[in-house]
Amino acid sequence: MKALLVTGGCGFIGVNFIRFLLEETPDFHGRIVNVDKLTYAANPRSLADLAEAHPDRYRFVHADIADRARMARVFDEEQVDAVCHFAAESHVDRSIAAPDAFIVTNVVGTCTLLELARERADRIARFHHVSTDEVFGSLGPEGYFTEETPYHPNSPYAASKAASDHLVRAWHTTYGLPVTISNCSNNYGPFQFPEKLIPLMILNALEGRPLPVYGDGRNVRDWLYVRDHCEAVWRVMTRGAPGRTYAVGGGAEEANIDVVHRVCDLVDELAGPRPDGAPRRELVRFVADRPGHDRRYAIDGTRIGRELGWQPRESFETGLRRTVAWYLAHADWVAAVRSGAYRDWIRAHYGEEGGAM
Ligand code: NAD
Ligand code: DAU
Repeated sequence: MKALLVTGGCGFIGVNFIRFLLEETPDFHGRIVNVDKLTYAANPRSLADLAEAHPDRYRFVHADIADRARMARVFDEEQVDAVCHFAAESHVDRSIAAPDAFIVTNVVGTCTLLELARERADRIARFHHVSTDEVFGSLGPEGYFTEETPYHPNSPYAASKAASDHLVRAWHTTYGLPVTISNCSNNYGPFQFPEKLIPLMILNALEGRPLPVYGDGRNVRDWLYVRDHCEAVWRVMTRGAPGRTYAVGGGAEEANIDVVHRVCDLVDELAGPRPDGAPRRELVRFVADRPGHDRRYAIDGTRIGRELGWQPRESFETGLRRTVAWYLAHADWVAAVRSGAYRDWIRAHYGEEGGAM
């Protein structure tokens, strides 16, 4: 892999993945071309130090993956020979409110990349598609998702990711494109946009605002520290068999209300008590449930463990403590991603139409 195209590299997992490759992966010697449309969820400044430290190994291109002509130029000018595809609309609640963008980016965008890769099949060594366990739907109190679990997506987001998985698999079966797919559980860690449960609760707790817990708070997610996910993606890309799918999980099932309580206790400990001394757990408010809210996700990671020797390293306790500490130490990052001025900064640097840095 001399020129690895990373899509969505200014989002939460993409930023962590590029950092992981350039800072912690001695067996990666290539260049990274990060293509990102810079939606609300992106923060190109999260990589500013890396861009400066590795000018010969890192390049950012502001572009939409669904823009075929523009992406064709990227593939050819950069001589892309491998793809790691993160770019997506990723938030379930937004997909319920306004699904269109999920179809354009997650389905049409993925198809566009597959076609560009197919047209350059002699050069593309690997097309890795980063997907989610949400494609499998909801579990009852027992059992786990495996690579054999039938698809049963419930939200517009999950349906769009399921569609993209099917396209990726079809481009392997029909055209022989050397694809791999990973279906991962909930990630958490540094650089996550504060609309997702954990960073939202950290910041609301810190600021003394209500903590909205959907339904009865007993929905269960399987939490994976983002660096562990990055390592899994790299393992699959470099050692996974073409055409193969891998389920990736943290082995850390938690009910939402327990996650929120843990966050409250950590913020109390690390940021100090609120002015009135009341524990932050008192900020919890049970609110209307998410429509179609999946009850439980949990991954059986036997395949990736047995075939690729991957296991999560971080426990939920240590990972959550690190994460709370990161958000407390990066108030500037939080203020930037929340501010309108930040959107203006992105427009001033990258324009509405795009351009390369
Ligand atoms: P994110 O929302 O934080 O980041 C998505 C990135 O994609 C942003 O930088 C955004 O600007 C970019 N993007 C969106 N539309 C684009 C387009 N049309 N062209 C180019 N770039 C575009 O998402 P994330 O949490 O980092 O998730 C990354 C991938 O991992 C997604 O495919 C998601 O489905 C998958 N995933 C996420 C999780 C999780 O818990 N966050 C778990 C499993 C799988
Ligand atoms: O499982 C992997 C998926 O995890 C990824 O594919 C998605 O991109 C990612 O967003 C995440 O989806 P979830 O819907 O599970 O994540 P979210 O952080 O939105 O919600 C986690 C749980 O917390 C879920 O059961 C809904 C609940 N929740 C969420 C928010 C934002 C609340 O109770 N209150 C909230 O305010």
